[in-house]
Amino acid sequence: MSLFARNAWKLSLNSAQKCRTSHTANTVVKKSSMGWVAAGLLAAGGLTGGVLLTDHLDANDGLAPTAYPWEHKKMLSSLDHNSMRRGFEVYRQVCAACHSINQIAYRNLVGTLFTEEEARALAESNMVTDGPGEDGKMFERPGKLSDYLPAPYPNEEAARWANNGAYPPDLSLITSARNDGENYVFNLLLGYLEEPPAGIELREGQHFNVYFPGGAIGMTPPLYDEIIEYTDGTPATKSQLAKDVVTFLKWCAEPEFDDRKRLGMKAVTLLSIMMMGTLYWKRFKWSVLKTRKMAYVGR
Ligand code: HEC
Repeated sequence: MSLFARNAWKLSLNSAQKCRTSHTANTVVKKSSMGWVAAGLLAAGGLTGGVLLTDHLDANDGLAPTAYPWEHKKMLSSLDHNSMRRGFEVYRQVCAACHSINQIAYRNLVGTLFTEEEARALAESNMVTDGPGEDGKMFERPGKLSDYLPAPYPNEEAARWANNGAYPPDLSLITSARNDGENYVFNLLLGYLEEPPAGIELREGQHFNVYFPGGAIGMTPPLYDEIIEYTDGTPATKSQLAKDVVTFLKWCAEPEFDDRKRLGMKAVTLLSIMMMGTLYWKRFKWSVLKTRKMAYVGR
């Protein structure tokens, strides 16, 4: 219970006692019920206040992310595919050094980010360990469309070893795995302070990020202006890079996003048309009852 709630609780107990001692002339029923009502009200108020306060002011939660008008959140828009393509470039050239995306295979990129030839060429640029072969040994071969995007580290221990003990999580589902995913990741990527606030000690390899729960994050600020060059010539400012990579990550977490939205639109359109028919049918069926006239003829 928060301090606020605890004080309110004490207050309500005090007032309950006072009620009982001061109104001695009242009947017993009234006296005690008044006290209980006051106690109840104060306790409820105190608890609500306490819950609200701990909800919003807990320093361990990090700052609530600012909401941005994402293209895909508009009613009739799909994911921004140009942005996704750029975001993949950011992921590949920056984030992939530390983070895996183990739910996406090269074949998933066909038709959404690349043509089949492009995706195949991309897969082949990467050597994959396969096997065992006929001689019982593992061997290296160029990647295929059915291979998954390569991970930077063979296992969690290796990842922690390379990052001062912090584990860079797999980013496949990150926008769904965090509250307010897109806004959180976007704000997180841009939310570093150069110096931690007074009184906060950071350990080796940690940085201060206002959006990260607790503030001390084990990821060095990954983005800065012009860290990569976009193939489509878009100026690679820090916020542009962050927006594009988040759009790409949103697609990774929900590759069915566009289809789902389109299906939803079809369903709503179809159901609205059917609704009109249904309303007409209802009026038709009820017309007999609705237009019936009751007449009582007295004898
Ligand atoms: C130098 C390695 C490195 C690079 C490059 C890097 N990260 Fe990280 N990232 C980390 C580490 C380590 C953590 C774990 C931090 C922790 O738990 O303190 C992390 C954590 C995260 C988290 C999770 C935060 C949370 O709420 O748990 C997200 C999201 C993230 N990184 C996104 C990105 C994106 C997007 C990029 C590319 C633009 C990127 N990272 C590039 C090392 C890296």
